[in-house]
Amino acid sequence: MEFELVIANGTIGTAADVFQADIAIRSGKIAQIGTGLARYAQRTIDAMGKFVLPGGIDSHVHISQPSGDGIVMADDFESGTRSALYGGNTTIMPFCLQQRGQTMREALKSYHDLAEGQCYTDVSFHLIVSDPTPAVLGQELPALIRDGYTSLKVFMTYEGLRLNDAEILNVMDTARRGGALVMVHCENEDAIRYLIGQHEAAGEIAPKAHATTRPIVVEREATHRAVSLAEVADVPVVIVHVSNGAAIDEIRAARARGRKVFAETCPQYLMLTAEDLGAMDWEGAKFVCSPPPRDKASQEQCWNGIEQNIFDLFSSDHCPFRYNDALGKLNPKGRENFRHVPNGIPGVETRLPILFSEGVLKERISLQRFVALTSTNHATLYGLNQKGSIAVGKDADIAIWDPTSRRTIRHSDLHDGSDYSPYEGLEVSGWPTTVVVGGIVMISEGRLGGPKGAGKYIARA
Ligand code: URP
Ligand code: ZN
Ligand code: ZN
Repeated sequence: MEFELVIANGTIGTAADVFQADIAIRSGKIAQIGTGLARYAQRTIDAMGKFVLPGGIDSHVHISQPSGDGIVMADDFESGTRSALYGGNTTIMPFCLQQRGQTMREALKSYHDLAEGQCYTDVSFHLIVSDPTPAVLGQELPALIRDGYTSLKVFMTYEGLRLNDAEILNVMDTARRGGALVMVHCENEDAIRYLIGQHEAAGEIAPKAHATTRPIVVEREATHRAVSLAEVADVPVVIVHVSNGAAIDEIRAARARGRKVFAETCPQYLMLTAEDLGAMDWEGAKFVCSPPPRDKASQEQCWNGIEQNIFDLFSSDHCPFRYNDALGKLNPKGRENFRHVPNGIPGVETRLPILFSEGVLKERISLQRFVALTSTNHATLYGLNQKGSIAVGKDADIAIWDPTSRRTIRHSDLHDGSDYSPYEGLEVSGWPTTVVVGGIVMISEGRLGGPKGAGKYIARA
């Protein structure tokens, strides 16, 4: 009996337990968990004093997504998955965006072509439905769900992407029939447009207006509508990137009515506020994302949601654009009016260290809860059945954490394609220093060793 790799003496964390043991890996899978396994190993990593956790699964990531007129996303699959890997992730779930007039299959082919041979982590795609024609609803989506594309995102905002209530109900109905999960971006587009009109009339066109044209009520109303539409269609629903306590109250109330409502929050809603958007000299554009970061009270409400099991998922919503770039945040129109600053911020590499440092080490959450929020729940909810835990038979996707490592986040140390981090200067303790994907040691003591292309596409249950 021989193992290709044994991770010895580490403190293993799962969503349920923390215990000391060795993990033996054969053919990319966890073959045994026990003690004294190193003697059967071709290669051993000594993880004494380290946490050995399931690799992070980031189920909310945007890569190479078409973003409108002359705007280019800062990450392709190579840089996006490399950055994810350095941040302790072993699987990411980017979105495949259907553009209006496009079939879902056409859209998917372009993402698969872009990802092929480029990935450092495993990937699996959600589908963004922006044009729910009868053919898409009746034929394409049912077939794609059967093929393992089992989650569909719909937008209530953004020109060209938003669906009306009837269209959302139709997508939900298709999801119910096929057994897929619907994710909803909850912001009321008509209310936002009204507020933008008012701001523009008053000459308020700098990035700080992004927050005041997308206030909490706009998210709260849309969250209420999303959970209500899901109740009408009788489907479970995921409310993504929740930013504040009023939206949390809608989720809590829907659950109290017996609805299956899942919820996600992101680092920006714990660490940033609307004041960042008011930064001088249009630097606020670096923080333009939707929903926008709120205030200190909302941060606390989101922390409470994390502690009190309101949130099932902690994701990055990594949606990177370069700041000082005519193809990014400061594109010619974006320099003139916040409305043209592309929405989204980078964060796939910093998601896990931020929650580990601010959550686990500051004793707001347990290590088990950290694992659930960043890996296990993503696997369970989205049907990544081989992933998200350290258990015999699962994929050997593992991150080894040094809890004593201290870092100041600097974009120059990160690996994404953007030119800034919204968390520049934040001090964190703990970092994943060795990362194993499918039994391959991709990062060893902070150095990239594994090959590009080792990451695979994963179809889901
Ligand atoms: O501003 C954001 N969040 N951009 C990414 C797209 C989305 O809505 O998830
Ligand atoms: Zn969204
Ligand atoms: Zn997103």
